[in-house]
Amino acid sequence: MKRIVVYYFRKGSNRYLARKIAEHLSCDIAELKPRLNVFPLFLLNIHMGNRALSVDLSEYDQVILCGPIWIGRLIPPLRSFLTSHKDRIKKLIFVTCCGSTDAGQNDKFGYATVFGKVRNLMADKCQYCRAFPIGMVLPEERREDPEAFMNTHLNDQNFQGIIRERFDQFILEISQGDSSPSPGKSAV
Ligand SMILES: Cc1cc2nc3c(=O)[nH]c(=O)nc-3n(C[C@H](O)[C@H](O)[C@H](O)COP(=O)(O)O)c2cc1C
Repeated sequence: MKRIVVYYFRKGSNRYLARKIAEHLSCDIAELKPRLNVFPLFLLNIHMGNRALSVDLSEYDQVILCGPIWIGRLIPPLRSFLTSHKDRIKKLIFVTCCGSTDAGQNDKFGYATVFGKVRNLMADKCQYCRAFPIGMVLPEERREDPEAFMNTHLNDQNFQGIIRERFDQFILEISQGDSSPSPGKSAV
């Protein structure tokens, strides 16, 4: 199966995750570069679209899109990517390294809201969505502490333990074409 990981990041965690996925699946990878990459404007939903990718997505069987969540939204670079490439994408998996925890996934700013938006947009092209909450790399008592998770970014030192187990499971599922639900994952 021919796959590509397409990612957007701001601080680095989603780039780290995207690179790890591409490395483990031995697949292509491409960075989403917004025409106007101005974070405060994104928060106001002002966005000028992304620069053209150097690849033709219709050549891939599966696109794995990876990026952060801000204020409970499918952020503009990711939304713009999905709306403009929807016709060329055959199958999509959405992955996020986000702030919300599994326990808080259905809260206002939880990842389940964003997963719902991806599914609404991509319908049956969306195979499933998977969250890697950044709090998974923190000690249990600090996982819900906004300051702690905002200032924590994935790296080789902290990408271990429960987050690594979830990652290994994710890679196994993708490799085997499995779409059954497991923690942090929302099957369609
Ligand atoms: C302004 C802002 C708002 C955020 N809002 C949310 C949110 O609503 N839900 C969530 O799960 N994470 C939220 N986060 C956390 C980011 O998704 C998280 O820090 C992510 O790992 C950042 O990815 P990056 O390092 O690739 O930029 C927010 C972060 C920022 C900076």
